[in-house]
Amino acid sequence: MDCMTKTKENKSPEIMDKLVSLCKRRGYIFQSSEIYGGLNSCWDYGPLGVELKRNIADIWWRSMTLKRDDVEGIDASILMHPRVWEASGHVQNFTDPLVDCKECKQRFRADQIEDVCPQCGGELTEPRLFNLMFHTFIGPVQDEANIVYLRPETAQGIYVNFMNVQTACRRKIPFGIAQIGKAFRNEITPGNFVFRTREFEQMEMQYFVKPGSDDEWLKTWKDIRINWFKELGVNPEKLRLKQHHEKELAHYAKDAYDVEYEFPFGWQELEGIHNRTDFDLKRHTEYSGKPINYFDEEAKERYVPYIIETSVGLNRTLLTCLVDAYREEEGRVVLSLSPKIAPIKAAIMPLVKRDGMDTIAYDLYNKMRNTFKVFYDVSGSIGRRYRRQDEAGTPFCVTVDSQTLEDNTVTIRERDSMKQERYAIGDVIGIIEKAVSI
Ligand code: GAP
Repeated sequence: MDCMTKTKENKSPEIMDKLVSLCKRRGYIFQSSEIYGGLNSCWDYGPLGVELKRNIADIWWRSMTLKRDDVEGIDASILMHPRVWEASGHVQNFTDPLVDCKECKQRFRADQIEDVCPQCGGELTEPRLFNLMFHTFIGPVQDEANIVYLRPETAQGIYVNFMNVQTACRRKIPFGIAQIGKAFRNEITPGNFVFRTREFEQMEMQYFVKPGSDDEWLKTWKDIRINWFKELGVNPEKLRLKQHHEKELAHYAKDAYDVEYEFPFGWQELEGIHNRTDFDLKRHTEYSGKPINYFDEEAKERYVPYIIETSVGLNRTLLTCLVDAYREEEGRVVLSLSPKIAPIKAAIMPLVKRDGMDTIAYDLYNKMRNTFKVFYDVSGSIGRRYRRQDEAGTPFCVTVDSQTLEDNTVTIRERDSMKQERYAIGDVIGIIEKAVSI
């Protein structure tokens, strides 16, 4: 069954508003603290959203760790020693230039506006640097000495554990360390739904290589990573790799690419793939006083590995999948999500609630529940039930009807083509399992 047939596209900017409203209606994403008026740029993932997010994270984790034999996983603490962020350069460099309007007191990023206030036309102050890291205090005393930061990226938790992982797992270079976790940035201009938020999740992998092999590894990883998005079902025509110009490169990077997607609001970065050289490990050696390096037993030489980083936003990937999957067709709205990531894999329904059809359907639902997330629905006309599942992104609807009572077959309706075919009830789990396996 081919669930990836793309139907009519409609990706105008209003699509974002429609998507936000679908996400609320179907339980994908809610505004945080909504009953109190919401908290700017913060979002809660509802019952379908949390499944979608987990499915994407699972696919990433599997592709990075389980399916490879050269990447280990970790889960580092969000709060780290404050010196980490001095070594990384975040205390000094993780800043945006800000200006205030002297009239309306609004604050803007200086590099994003002209020289008068875009709200009221008022006069602006001189730009001042604003650090994007959130901070708090560790322990009961709230003074300078006890400041800690909420990590603005997960990467540093990997660098400071390089020696631990390499020694514990007796790893030889090249090898990588992967991590999924929350990161926080006090963004000045968050927006576009969950595209840019102040609290988000990153899926980062740092690959440690011998200096000299770094250019080749960067090439390898950029190909792997763009293909990963295609495997998620994202339309390849809306994906591209963009190399950073020399003046765009971050202070630590020798070469870098972004994976970009064409959103209704333009081409935007989904993932950064950077050659970070030996910058991070050398800085942590310098700031901690603890040597971080690698001894190559075969070549009898010691060196500081170079790092190829792949860093993707989980929420941003989720938004990409939703935007890419959104279709408006005559009489229905469809979320054409890949079955691999769809939150509900199948809805099980009796055509009508009588003659034992509901019992058979419920039994099948109970059997399927052990293997994947399924939904049992008896309420409303069958057409309405199908439409609800189309909007929720459910790739298959399994219907028990009067023929089931005679020959033990059911129909499987495929979401995108709306085609229905009959199968023996005993084959249903296998068919769906094959279509959703990752
Ligand atoms: N360790 C490298 C790093 O953090 P980055 O380009 O700043 O690099 C990597 O971030 C990815 O994290 C981005 O491509 C994006 O997908 C995601 N990301 C960054 N800031 C974000 C934000 N405010 N909201 C949502 N996702 C964000």
